[in-house]
Amino acid sequence: MKITCTALVCVFISLFLRTSCVQAVFSDDAFVTDWQLANLGPWEKIIPDARDRNRILIVSNPTETSSLLSSFNVSSGQILFRNVLPYTVDEIQLDDDNHNVVVCVDSSSQSWQKFDLHDWFLLDEGVGHAPASTALSQYSYPNDQVVIKGNELHILDNESSLAEWKLELPHGFNKVEYFQREDPLVLVLNVNNTQYLGFSVNGTELVPAWQRDESLTNVVDYAVLDVFDSKDLELNNDMIAERDSSSLWNAYWLRVTTNWNRFMNLLKENHFSPGRVFTRLLALDTKDTTTSDLKFGFAKTLIVLTRNGIIGGLDMVNKGQVVWKLDLQIDQGIKMFWKDNNHKELIVFSRDGHYLTIDLVNGLPVIKSKASLLSKGAVESVIELDDNQCEYLIKFDNGNHQLLKLDPLVDHTDSSIFITEHDSNGIFGRMIVNDEVQDTWQRTVKPTEKIVAFNKRDETNLNSLGLTLGDKSVLYKYLYPNLAAYLVTNKEHHTITFNLIDTITGEVLITQEHKDSPDFRLPTDIVFGEYWVVYSYFSLDPVPEQKLVVVELYESLTPDERFSNTRRSYDPLTGQTNKLQHIAKQYIFPEIIKRLAISKTTNDITTKAIVMELENGQITYIPKLVLNARSKPEDQMTNEDKKEFMAAPYAPIVPINDNFVITHYRNLILGPDSKLISIPTNLESTSIICDLGHDVFCTRVTPSGQFDLMSPTFEKGKLLITILILLVITYFIRPSVSNKKLKSQWLVR
Ligand SMILES: *[C@@H]1O[C@H](CO)[C@@H](O)[C@H](O)[C@H]1NC(C)=O
Ligand SMILES: *[C@@H]1O[C@H](CO)[C@@H](O)[C@H](O)[C@H]1NC(C)=O
Ligand SMILES: *[C@@H]1O[C@H](CO)[C@@H](O)[C@H](O)[C@H]1NC(C)=O
Ligand SMILES: *[C@@H]1O[C@H](CO)[C@@H](O)[C@H](O)[C@H]1NC(C)=O
Repeated sequence: MKITCTALVCVFISLFLRTSCVQAVFSDDAFVTDWQLANLGPWEKIIPDARDRNRILIVSNPTETSSLLSSFNVSSGQILFRNVLPYTVDEIQLDDDNHNVVVCVDSSSQSWQKFDLHDWFLLDEGVGHAPASTALSQYSYPNDQVVIKGNELHILDNESSLAEWKLELPHGFNKVEYFQREDPLVLVLNVNNTQYLGFSVNGTELVPAWQRDESLTNVVDYAVLDVFDSKDLELNNDMIAERDSSSLWNAYWLRVTTNWNRFMNLLKENHFSPGRVFTRLLALDTKDTTTSDLKFGFAKTLIVLTRNGIIGGLDMVNKGQVVWKLDLQIDQGIKMFWKDNNHKELIVFSRDGHYLTIDLVNGLPVIKSKASLLSKGAVESVIELDDNQCEYLIKFDNGNHQLLKLDPLVDHTDSSIFITEHDSNGIFGRMIVNDEVQDTWQRTVKPTEKIVAFNKRDETNLNSLGLTLGDKSVLYKYLYPNLAAYLVTNKEHHTITFNLIDTITGEVLITQEHKDSPDFRLPTDIVFGEYWVVYSYFSLDPVPEQKLVVVELYESLTPDERFSNTRRSYDPLTGQTNKLQHIAKQYIFPEIIKRLAISKTTNDITTKAIVMELENGQITYIPKLVLNARSKPEDQMTNEDKKEFMAAPYAPIVPINDNFVITHYRNLILGPDSKLISIPTNLESTSIICDLGHDVFCTRVTPSGQFDLMSPTFEKGKLLITILILLVITYFIRPSVSNKKLKSQWLVR
């Protein structure tokens, strides 16, 4: 008996080792899970490229002050290169000496820049007339060769003037955008203003070669729609039925019968063969990416609102494919919100003071109503007062406010809502009492000062009250929710100041000035996580450097000292707040940071990552742990300090790790007002990061690694067999052990 048991244990151990040593290698998700909509925007000018008939140059104007110059393969519909110029291009010239060089001219400032057509390197620039160049005429198609007769487009033969090719005009045809007779024959039509269709010749027929849609350029706002598994919906319906049943017993009986029926169906599907059921359980649907995408919450529709007033639904697991789009016929899109918790209705605000409700019927948008706001004027911003309560505060350009209440049943008379608004001149506290907007406090800055970045504290799930230090003492986080942080630049003193305020009272809690001559031309940004603030600015003193500052807020910097407790809650209006203590540290980052964001996950357990859009168009992230305000130089760290979780000595330079550059070698053009966002998924480890602007880019990040996702190679079979063997062992060993116990009690050997 003894020997068999040992043998069994050995078998078990070896099996256990084999299952537990499964190598979890994650395939590189680069260019698999990430996608980009590379936009050109509406084409303004087309200039044929003299060197290659396949290529054209397209000039488009993403903003009033910049141009996008793109090289485009007109046969295949591929973008070859895009180049943003910080001025509007009026004319393009060809260098007389070198036909691989173009000159872009901005006639308003009389300046020009010379580029190499191959790599778009800037060769020369100047003011006035560009030396030795001829103006390239903008393309105009030869009218005598392409004629439109009724619903058909005819391409005429040069000599006989007979139609050589005929094409039925597509629905929404606008104009012929480009036509080229010489080999290869290319025809580009503009349809519905923002769509471009390319045709090529196949024998005697014109066949569609490619199509581009430029309508979803310049995203101003977004909403996320979860796509649910039909099985989950079934389960949900079951739950609703159970909840609605008359008694507990009925609900129980309902659950038993539905599950029994399901089990019978499973058996029936597998022809009552237990082996088949077992193999099916083993196989499960891990290989089926669509079900796992649904289960893990990756399957979402990203709904974007563009400045031109078009909304589009993008399939997030299908490389951002446009599932639907709708022109709202408004002058300019401003904001978009879900009206209900079930995400069936959207409300969209336009700049000229209209609001539209949009129903999603079977996943497709339908405009349900359109109305205009009572107050007149251009809408500057819209704030949603409470999540999905259909109450909005609209601010107009002229400083007026209007409260829009769509659901008269929602009542806030018992409590007042506090709002914080900001612009470059000040921060304004407002209170909404009895459906009236009242000003409470304001903090305006001096004429030489400017508020360049502002952020309120993120709403996060509270997982721990403090940080455990190496000696097991606790440092309590300052978790008062009504906080905001902002940066003020001062031209007179050449400083940048960080401020932390209480958004209820407007009291400034921390101010911290930097005198290292910040460069006001470069971007600054600020993010506010659970109990910390991270901000970035570029300084020139003593050497030009990108600074990244982290400020951590604690109840006290003395371990185990706590002032807040559950009995006495925070109430700033009666002065019931405890003051915070803070600690800050500065880091240097090797690239210019344009925008910051914090990664979001469902339960906020995963360590936070600071996502950064860089000035060069790349997106990268660093774990928040790297930016630790309490870190010390190695020689000052005590043994206790080193015992702290993830403790690392202070290193002033944060390097860029290539693995953390999530845009890989993509060329992203996001424009000045891009939105860097993070969307949680059902997997706690994984967060979706998107950057929305001129282009749309999305990918997934796992700041703490994919700890909750088994690799596809995980050997489930072996695990199940191990468990089975374990059960068998306990089944056999248990009687033998009790037998032994009994014998020992009777002193039988
Ligand atoms: C443009 O596309 C055509 C057709 O796909 C291809 O044959 C040609 O090589 C491409 N030219 C360039 C410059 O990419
Ligand atoms: C079309 O005709 C013009 C003059 O009639 C001639 O110069 C040109 O080469 C012809 N093009 C083709 C493709 O035959
Ligand atoms: C242009 O728009 C119309 C209606 O808005 C639509 O039916 C048509 O399919 C569009 N054209 C193309 C080529 O998508
Ligand atoms: C061109 O036509 C041939 C024969 O008519 C056909 O087999 C081929 O698929 C066509 N090519 C395209 C790109 O439509």
